[in-house]
Amino acid sequence: SANQMWGGRFAAGPDAIMEAINASIGFDQRLAGEDIEGSRAHASMLAATGILTTKDAEAIREGLLTVLSEIEGGTFEFSAALEDIHMNVEARLKQVVGEAAGRLHTARSRNDQVATDFRLWVRSQCDAAIPAIKTLQEALLGQAEAGADWVMPGFTHLQTAQPVTWGHHMLAYVEMLGRDAARFADARARMNESPLGAAALAGTSFPIDREMTAKALGFDRPMANSLDAVSDRDFALEFLSSATICAMHLSRLAEELVIWSSAQFRFVAMSDRFSTGSSIMPQKKNPDAAELIRAKIGRILGANVALLTVMKGLPLAYSKDMQEDKEQVFDAADHLMLALAAMAGMVADMAANRESLAAAAGSGFSTATDLADWLVRALNMPFRDAHHVTGTLVGMAESRGCDLADLSLADMQGVHEAITEDVFSVLTVEASVASRTSYGGTAPVQVRAQIARWRDAHKAG
Ligand code: ARG
Repeated sequence: SANQMWGGRFAAGPDAIMEAINASIGFDQRLAGEDIEGSRAHASMLAATGILTTKDAEAIREGLLTVLSEIEGGTFEFSAALEDIHMNVEARLKQVVGEAAGRLHTARSRNDQVATDFRLWVRSQCDAAIPAIKTLQEALLGQAEAGADWVMPGFTHLQTAQPVTWGHHMLAYVEMLGRDAARFADARARMNESPLGAAALAGTSFPIDREMTAKALGFDRPMANSLDAVSDRDFALEFLSSATICAMHLSRLAEELVIWSSAQFRFVAMSDRFSTGSSIMPQKKNPDAAELIRAKIGRILGANVALLTVMKGLPLAYSKDMQEDKEQVFDAADHLMLALAAMAGMVADMAANRESLAAAAGSGFSTATDLADWLVRALNMPFRDAHHVTGTLVGMAESRGCDLADLSLADMQGVHEAITEDVFSVLTVEASVASRTSYGGTAPVQVRAQIARWRDAHKAG
């Protein structure tokens, strides 16, 4: 007939432009493995429930493996005239096993088929993201361990605030990434229900066993509403939301690495393996990987917004709009995985410059809060008054171009007569960070405890 797929109702084939806008095979061939897995489970169930003969089901299941090996071997010829991966596989199956192939689509629709394939694919991406995040956390933990007590400036408003430790700063990202991994795990748990058997939208009159196919595909249970099963893509949106938040975290770390590796900061040296040179300026070593990671949020958030926008306002159940889900998710997943791997390599390779960090830690009157706290503790001064006295001393040091610790005791007593020699013990950055032993604080003892907690957690899996 003139139409390869639905010649019964259709006298003419599609316009070339129709085929171009309609075909998804250019991208959904990525779902081939999931499609065949789903079809094999469906065929087994059709036999187990007596809907198909065991002979037909076995021929189908074997034939599908042949098709899979052709696809994996690169010999399969994909056809845009056959629209998508589902029709391509089925058409080839017909050539391989003959008439039985036509029975595979009993009690099924491409609507529940694609929903199943895509869930399986997104689920596998959650499973891949979690260990990739852990690998990056391990690299950060390595940095934290090496510099648990190295001092550096802590910033607010990118202005020197209080000294912190390098280990503490690295651990901040370990925590963020831990929540990212947990988000992927949550999303995975929620999406792990099977749409298969929802058929086009209403379910089917055949005596299918949805529990059986759900189990065979590693789902916890079948989805409870057939309209919902074929028409929601919230599972993909949860994946994209988790990916977006993770990409945002990566972007912040990447930005810090860009700043820190500059000649003005010199907090870290990036390895040659994760840097590039300039074609004109011989001295340049550019943090291109960090910059690209910083930018990945653009396309990942873009995918998230794109799919949300596609889905909003769609009436139930399936509409072809939903075919636009896949490229967004494929692209976001690919680039998130690449960004995670690049960041892990970069962090593992980079060298923190302990001297530069320490020199910067002591500048900008970073221990002013420690001085104010001393006034409260030693002189029982109200904190607001201590803040004022300290501010006066900072002003004095600033006008002389020296640090707080360079002021003499006489200078200090000129501002407040009860100050004693003991004050100088709190003005070093080492004393400052060592004193911050509150839970989750920057003191090396706290940092080491948190590193040990994460190491245990990772060992436990
Ligand atoms: N290629 C389609 C998609 O990606 C498969 C489902 C087609 N269903 C349909 N009723 N046209 O969504």
